[in-house]
Amino acid sequence: MPVELIEHRPKNSRPIQLVTSAGFNGMALSPAARAWAEANGFSGEAGRLLLVPNPEGGIEEALFGVGNGQEGALAAGSLAKSLPEGDWHFAAAPEDASLATLGLVLGGYSFTRYGKKPGKSIRFTLPKGADAGSIGRIAESVFLARDLINTPTNDMGPAALEDAARKLAKAHKARVSVTVGDKLLEANFPMIHAVGRASTEAPRLIDFSWGRKAAPKVTLVGKGVCFDTGGLDIKPASGMLLMKKDMGGAANVLGLASMIMAADIDVRLRVLIPAVENAISGNAFRPGDVLQSRKGLTVEIGNTDAEGRLILADALALADEEAPDLLIDMATLTGAARVALGPDLPPFYTGDDALADEIAKASAEVEDPLWRMPLWKPYEAKLSSKIADINNVTTDGFAGSITAALFLQRFVEKAKSWVHFDIFGWSPSDRPHGPTGGEAQAIRALEKVIAGRYGK
Ligand code: BES
Ligand code: MN
Ligand code: ZN
Repeated sequence: MPVELIEHRPKNSRPIQLVTSAGFNGMALSPAARAWAEANGFSGEAGRLLLVPNPEGGIEEALFGVGNGQEGALAAGSLAKSLPEGDWHFAAAPEDASLATLGLVLGGYSFTRYGKKPGKSIRFTLPKGADAGSIGRIAESVFLARDLINTPTNDMGPAALEDAARKLAKAHKARVSVTVGDKLLEANFPMIHAVGRASTEAPRLIDFSWGRKAAPKVTLVGKGVCFDTGGLDIKPASGMLLMKKDMGGAANVLGLASMIMAADIDVRLRVLIPAVENAISGNAFRPGDVLQSRKGLTVEIGNTDAEGRLILADALALADEEAPDLLIDMATLTGAARVALGPDLPPFYTGDDALADEIAKASAEVEDPLWRMPLWKPYEAKLSSKIADINNVTTDGFAGSITAALFLQRFVEKAKSWVHFDIFGWSPSDRPHGPTGGEAQAIRALEKVIAGRYGK
């Protein structure tokens, strides 16, 4: 259900009591509410909602179980689905009022582009201590990322992804330039061209900049593979089914850019999205081909399904040329990351320990789970090629997420600090703060880091 936030509580708004399992017995509840709770066997179990009736047969209030508090503030999001429509407010502001309210708003998301109805809406009065501006910016950005990922490739190919980036850029008066098709060769992005040329929609590099030119340079690079068939090393049907989401990195960097621009953080932001479809045709790149890269390294193609790192390498090389203060890339890069950590816990890689600590701290604070994995140098040898500077895959397949990160690292030299996120971009099951489908990952934590470093 969509959740609308309002500042002033209407007269008929009903309260929601947050109930911990430990605190239930000592809590100030009306005798009727307590009797009703006991009759229903409710004692504050996490995620359970109990509506308390009034004598007229209406709803007096709601009790919402938060268990022992370990579920986190975002868990309040399940209320967006379970509350009846109308006006609601927290009886007492929760400890993390902003995050609990954000959870609610995020939990109200649904993907409605193809006619599914969003359901009835609830109105929620902002609790004390919650920052409406920040909640609104974050929710809008998360919804943008989810919508882009959920949209299937027939409506979200490289050209549509370009349109989405242009729309966001225009809303914030950012400067946009896009290099399309054979122009990629003239402008020296050979690997973006090679990966994307077999599609009927031309590959492209989307590049937009925003903010004061002398401000600290923050550059975001997002993998924009609008569909990944695997190329000539074609994926089986089961592996291809979800590959509309292979532009999840691009969707997430657009979401993060939206947060940064809407909050007016004083950075010179740059967003780079190589947007392609990894398709199959007579002119597709092949296993065994050797590609030139923007950076000058030659790359032997061990597997055309390891395409994300190729397009990112050219985009990262461009980003690196102006030695940004902070270079962030996000990509649905490897299945191996899911094997290691599962869909909900994206690994990140950086050689900058201070940055890693900031990310880990922000991740915990905003309940945006992330886990650092190592850029394990000795594994770089696995990417060696007999005829080129580097191979795009390893032969043994071990440590797939790490070796993909090490591949990218070869294309970053000058950036003061670089961090790579190997995200899933998808929630395989319903959660309190969002339904099954496209998901924003890492960007709420990153907004916190960037606002902490460069915000007012
Ligand atoms: N887009 C995929 C990775 C992926 C698959 C992410 C499933 C999330 C879910 C990527 O382009 C890919 O195919 N990677 C290969 C690399 C391999 C050929 C070295 C993979 O992970 O199998
Ligand atoms: Mn692939
Ligand atoms: Zn891919």
